[in-house]
Amino acid sequence: MKSAASSGTDNKNAVAGRIPQDFIDELVARADIAEVVGMRVQLKKAGREYKACCPFHSEKTPSFTVSPDKGFYHCFGCGAHGTALGFLMEFDRLEFVDAIEELAQHLGLEVPREDSGASHSPVAPVFEILSSAAKLYQQALREHPDAVAYLKQRGVAGETARDFGIGYAPAGWDFLLRALGDSETTRRELQSAGLIATRESGGFYDRFRDRIMFPIRDARGRTVAFGGRVMGEGEPKYLNSPETAVFHKGRELYGLFDARRASRRLDRILVVEGYMDVVSLAESGVHNAVATLGTATTAEHLKRLFRATQEVVFCFDGDRAGREAAWRALQNTLPEMREGRQVRFLFLPDGDDPDSLVRREGAAGLGARLEEALPLSDYLLQALKNQADITTTEGLARLAELAKPLLAVVPEGIYRDLLTDRLAGELQLPAQRLSSLVAGAAAQPATPGPRPRRPMGRGGNRPSLVRRAIQIVLNYPAVAGSVSVPTGLAEESQRGAPLLAEILRMLRAQPDLSCAGLLERFRERPEGPHLQQLLTEELLLEAEPAAREFADCLARIMARGRDQRLAELVEKAAAGPLSEAEREELRGIRRSED
Ligand code: UTP
Ligand code: MN
Repeated sequence: MKSAASSGTDNKNAVAGRIPQDFIDELVARADIAEVVGMRVQLKKAGREYKACCPFHSEKTPSFTVSPDKGFYHCFGCGAHGTALGFLMEFDRLEFVDAIEELAQHLGLEVPREDSGASHSPVAPVFEILSSAAKLYQQALREHPDAVAYLKQRGVAGETARDFGIGYAPAGWDFLLRALGDSETTRRELQSAGLIATRESGGFYDRFRDRIMFPIRDARGRTVAFGGRVMGEGEPKYLNSPETAVFHKGRELYGLFDARRASRRLDRILVVEGYMDVVSLAESGVHNAVATLGTATTAEHLKRLFRATQEVVFCFDGDRAGREAAWRALQNTLPEMREGRQVRFLFLPDGDDPDSLVRREGAAGLGARLEEALPLSDYLLQALKNQADITTTEGLARLAELAKPLLAVVPEGIYRDLLTDRLAGELQLPAQRLSSLVAGAAAQPATPGPRPRRPMGRGGNRPSLVRRAIQIVLNYPAVAGSVSVPTGLAEESQRGAPLLAEILRMLRAQPDLSCAGLLERFRERPEGPHLQQLLTEELLLEAEPAAREFADCLARIMARGRDQRLAELVEKAAAGPLSEAEREELRGIRRSED
């Protein structure tokens, strides 16, 4: 199985080397979830569990429970649930790898990294040097009145500059090397951090000179890169850090750390284009803006945004470039759309950016415009209609053609159904007809394949034995040690049987894997949410009867499998002669039943 921390999207982890699965197992097993949650939420002991008012929805009577035995929290009110890592991700709004680092730090453990093969240096010194540079730039700002004057003239007050850690890189070629000491090590670190460059003739020089410096900070507030603006005219207007082990342009969002710091619950996030837009909005009291770093909005950005909020409003210039950027953003957004998520588009008057607009109209003016921002579906329709003349049959057909690939990337679910209805209405087509057109598009290669079928669930008319067995083994992983995995379980056709077999195999290989550890192994898998859901149901069984029932479940699952196969073979035999192998199988099943 692949490492849980290697989810393909996690560039930072990929570059720094994977976090070994063993370490995650150990971390989750060692973490006391009551302590992790208790540091953030006031908990009250209730039997073997703890209770509190849920931090994820507002309530007066506590329905949030934390079970140290399971290493799991669950709210009966809003359904929120997860492991200690999951809690950190939700409550502190951290990415998976950051949550691991946070938890490890809390337990005093060092996060090991598997060597990814590529040559990589440890990243800690890179963070250190970036932090030192940021401090030096801030200090230099205080010593350069012309730089302060530039910020003043752009309406940025001292307090805002401090909040964003804005600084100044002095002119000259060796500011950093002189301030930090020109040793071999420092040079190497500055180079890995993208702060100095090499001369062709040999030697080094500062990348950023005579520029206003905007530190780019990651989700935990660590400086990972800089954007530097010339004061006045000059090319390039903004110089940015190159990609490094700790900085990936397509991943970071300028201002996200600050927005989260300003308010833990963000009802809405504005996505703007520039550093100065974010800073200027904050100066005007709008603290929920983030900027992409001179790139289009990526899928990775959207994942991060939706981790922090339910509503994203893209603010684009009203010009051609702005409209093109909006269309690209729309395309990258569709695969992330689902029920409960809202995306809207605000087009600014030509010639304006959020900075100039908020300075002219104030936060209230911007707020009024935001209320008028186009919902994604309206924008989509409008953009499609601009490309097709829907007063003609040909135009309608063209619109349907254009819509097909776009709808096809929206995940199946209520949101996709609503969007389909909306478009169908516009096209004067039955929604059913449009859906089947789109289904045709989905079969084409460029779009995602069919969704995995539900791995298990309440389906079927009788209560599923497999479901019960999984529920028991999740609550009491130790039961796996008391049984042998029946041969053929993984090939069983009963829903969830291969999953049960996989869980048992995992526990065989690692008998002290905890309940939460098991859940973490399925974090990136489609089965993950189902397993967590299963754990939120109360088992009401002590360990010993649980082990007995588990063994019984397994026996009945295998018996049921034999019955089914027997019925199949008998039916086949009635239709014609069986092969020798089938006859042998039939004899085997009959023997086992005697
Ligand atoms: P803009 O050119 O719109 O600049 O670039 P701006 O944000 O309005 O900046 P000010 O108000 O003139 O100071 C938007 C974003 O594109 C990236 C930067 O991230 C910038 O914030 N950019 C722009 C660059 O990386 N390099 C450039 O030379 C220009
Ligand atoms: Mn601007």
